[in-house]
Amino acid sequence: MKFISVIGSGTMGNGIAHVFAQHGYQVSLIDISTIQLEKALATISKNMDRQVSKGSLTEADKDAALARITPFTELSDGVKQADLIVEAATENMSLKLDIFRQLDQLAPSSAILASNTSSISITKIAAVTKRPTQVIGMHFMNPVPVMKLVEVIRGYATSDEVTEIIMDLSRNLSKEPVEVNDYPGFVANRILMPMINEAIYTLFEGVAGVSEIDTVMKLGMAHPMGPLQLADFIGLDVCLSILKVLHDGFGNPKYAPCPLLVNMVEAGFKGVKSGEGFYQYS
Ligand code: CAA
Repeated sequence: MKFISVIGSGTMGNGIAHVFAQHGYQVSLIDISTIQLEKALATISKNMDRQVSKGSLTEADKDAALARITPFTELSDGVKQADLIVEAATENMSLKLDIFRQLDQLAPSSAILASNTSSISITKIAAVTKRPTQVIGMHFMNPVPVMKLVEVIRGYATSDEVTEIIMDLSRNLSKEPVEVNDYPGFVANRILMPMINEAIYTLFEGVAGVSEIDTVMKLGMAHPMGPLQLADFIGLDVCLSILKVLHDGFGNPKYAPCPLLVNMVEAGFKGVKSGEGFYQYS
């Protein structure tokens, strides 16, 4: 496996491109927006600088890694020699299904098609292709260059062979892959999102304030970020959409999104990306 195409150059896409390029893979980074691609390359360079300043990457390795990333705005050009495609586009079901329909036409028949989706069914995505055994979830965590986990999600039809290839590949990226089956929220978000939702309910019901809730979880449970800060970091719109997937998928009221979260998202308070959520960002 040598040629990796990454679709989407937002936070997750640029982090995924960063990690593959750093580990010697040839990366095609694809986005419809040239401006977004330029921003992504600048972000990757800046994040590699952090590694250089910490001594975990040399300046020469950084330059070589950046030279392995080629930007593309046309899907057909960016995937034509891919061994693996990792889709990290916006978390929108019809958009993802459309991308996978196109990938199935455009990518080499041997290519593995992976999605970085945080909650959309891999089985459903695979079903719009003619190669469901070669479709798999490769769920990286933000910030991708730092977090060790890759949640590897087997769709209903994903083959053992493809799963093994993706597990090995994740290890080659110095990550720890964990194999899980395709049910709503997989494992990461099935456990994380109810905790975040409960923290929002705790605020909503006036049990404690924002910094008190986060301090309890940071100092009491050794979490690097409190749940409300983490929700801002992930994006409140993303948290809401994952909770909806859990709520719809299991039909269990315990996953019902807190009305405060719904209101904040409707008002445009989406966390770090919009400048304000539970905290303010300048
Ligand atoms: N690229 C490269 N390096 C980065 C980086 C990036 N984007 N962001 C941070 N770093 C590095 C820093 O340079 C620093 O390196 P050293 O340890 O070598 O000094 C290290 O990461 C820690 O960063 P900071 O010192 O700046 O800040 P911190 O100690 O507060 O850590 C954090 C920041 C790593 C984000 C930490 O707060 C954390 O782990 N937070 C929780 C993150 C988390 O839970 N992520 C999962 C979210 S859920 C998700 O992604 C999936 C989903 O489906 C919703």
